Amino acid sequence: MSAFERVAAVTEIPPNGRKSIIVDDVPALLVRVGNDFFAVEDVCSHDGQPLTDGPVADGAITCPRHGAKFDLKTGQALCMPATRGIETFSVQVRDGEVFVGPAGSETPVMPSVTAPVQVVAPSNIPVVSAAATSGDQVPTPEPGADDDLRLIDALKQVIDPELMVNIVDLGLVYSVNRDDRKIYVEMTLTSPACPAGPQIVQQSKMALERLRDVDEAEIKLVMTPPWTPDRMTDEAKDMLGIF
Ligand code: FES
Repeated sequence: MSAFERVAAVTEIPPNGRKSIIVDDVPALLVRVGNDFFAVEDVCSHDGQPLTDGPVADGAITCPRHGAKFDLKTGQALCMPATRGIETFSVQVRDGEVFVGPAGSETPVMPSVTAPVQVVAPSNIPVVSAAATSGDQVPTPEPGADDDLRLIDALKQVIDPELMVNIVDLGLVYSVNRDDRKIYVEMTLTSPACPAGPQIVQQSKMALERLRDVDEAEIKLVMTPPWTPDRMTDEAKDMLGIF
């Protein structure tokens, strides 16, 4: 999309209403929250399901399928099972009409503005790669610092449900290794009797296997060396009030 396009009249969409639209051949959803309009990709990044009927609250839309939540303004994924955001578009309201344009664009539709212009400018959201959209297999990256960071970032999506801190900052992840498209993780628990263990292991596996260049993740629980609070990052310690 190179310019803003009219997608609706303001009166078509009541406060807290929505309308399905197409933006650059992408199914999108125009959502009205009070007098603000947002346009987001209507495809959940978790499993490709439509967000069309998802409940909207606190500036976010929830996927009706498995409950992933996305910020309406930025598209950021706010909770599992989604680990990637969705695309967002800029919205302008002028003369009682709603226009949608490319993400981040603030170019007015026409030079003569006779009414206040309202712009919702989304932040930069990673765009799905051409390889991903065409169904081609994504090449396995070379092992290295960048790949390590991506794997660690994926594991940071896993939150210990008791402490509400991600497992990486808690110091539960001992090692992450890649063998082509398979990932091997060794991790521990804050205590051998931690009831959240199976959930943490399962979510870690899912978080890694959602990466397009990962076919399988094998998560091994180890109790040696035992976890101690010293393994936490300073940020995690702050969150838990440990000094
Ligand atoms: S498809 Fe949306 S959360 Fe699973």
